[in-house]
Amino acid sequence: MKGQYWIVSKNFDGVPKVTDFELKEEELETPKNGEILCEALFISIDPYMRIFGNVCGATMIGEQIAKVLESKHENFPVGSIVAMTAGWRSHTISDGSNARLVTVPDPLPISLALGVLGMPGGTAYFGLKHVAKVKKGEVVFVNGAAGAVGSIVGQLAKIEGCTVIGCASTEAKLNYLKEIGFDHVFNYKTQDLDKSLKDAAPDGIDIFYDNVGSSASCQVLKHMKSRGRMAVCGTMAGYNDKDGPGTNQTGPLPFHDILLKELLVEGFTFWRFIDRRDEAEKALCQLIHEGKLKYKEHVYQGFDQMVTAFLDMLAAKDIGKIVVKL
Ligand SMILES: NC(=O)c1ccc[n+]([C@@H]2O[C@H](COP(=O)([O-])OP(=O)(O)OC[C@H]3O[C@@H](n4cnc5c(N)ncnc54)[C@H](OP(=O)(O)O)[C@@H]3O)[C@@H](O)[C@H]2O)c1
Repeated sequence: MKGQYWIVSKNFDGVPKVTDFELKEEELETPKNGEILCEALFISIDPYMRIFGNVCGATMIGEQIAKVLESKHENFPVGSIVAMTAGWRSHTISDGSNARLVTVPDPLPISLALGVLGMPGGTAYFGLKHVAKVKKGEVVFVNGAAGAVGSIVGQLAKIEGCTVIGCASTEAKLNYLKEIGFDHVFNYKTQDLDKSLKDAAPDGIDIFYDNVGSSASCQVLKHMKSRGRMAVCGTMAGYNDKDGPGTNQTGPLPFHDILLKELLVEGFTFWRFIDRRDEAEKALCQLIHEGKLKYKEHVYQGFDQMVTAFLDMLAAKDIGKIVVKL
């Protein structure tokens, strides 16, 4: 059987380019004892690929939902569906160590296991509940609000009984945020941040869920209430820095505000909560079934669209979770 895979053919220099990738073909053997042969159904497009995927000559990294075509592994019968960290590959032979069986209840699409019912949804859930420790009646601000993580953070905060403020870069994104229940939205590219936050939260912000890590994030700290919490989830603004992700971030943070308002600033990754991922999946699935939580996917069609989808994600073109359907 022939398979295809994308490699990084040239190290990224700032914003990645189409010419930094190359599509390769390979002949796959029949699986040996203890192995499975899988065919990708959906491949996830995530910001972390820009940070950790920059390895010249290597297969581009990432998670996918795949179907087991052949199996010599007792845990993975033929026809079962797995989530696996196989990278940008159409077909994969695996010993099962990078795969786990996944199910998504009907009629939800299986691709949700890469989005709201996967790592991005879990990041929103644990970040808001267990890092920021959200409480009823609080004021929550999230940036990158129309993205895979931000759109779930805002809705979960609404479900908790909070006032939710979100920002994004286009009218279409702001409309989506209003549709899913955000109380206040603004365009950070065309509207003044200080004025927008003052209008939306005259008494200040309790929780700042930061997906972006820009100089504007420092500015937000000036709008926090006493004992406010900032959950540092991502630093999207710095992933394309010339000398590598985050290298242009110099600071200083507004330490005076952090001191006098006794703010808590905490970074976290989903991997801290990996052993509890079922808890998030179950809770988020329940909320979807109850009609309380909405999700949006932007689906690119075809393995040849991997690079386009990745570059579009970095350019923040789409709304919600980006996946590629094979
Ligand atoms: N800590 C963890 O374990 C973990 C897990 C998953 C994701 N993350 C991080 O969480 C963040 C969001 O991830 P995601 O999956 O939701 O990504 P996403 O769907 O691509 O959304 C990211 C959003 O950030 C905004 N953005 C991009 N560049 C920006 C810039 N320079 N300034 C301001 N906003 C910018 C974009 O919207 P607009 O510019 O249009 O507003 C985009 O909607 C990323 O930083 C990611 O690395 C962290």
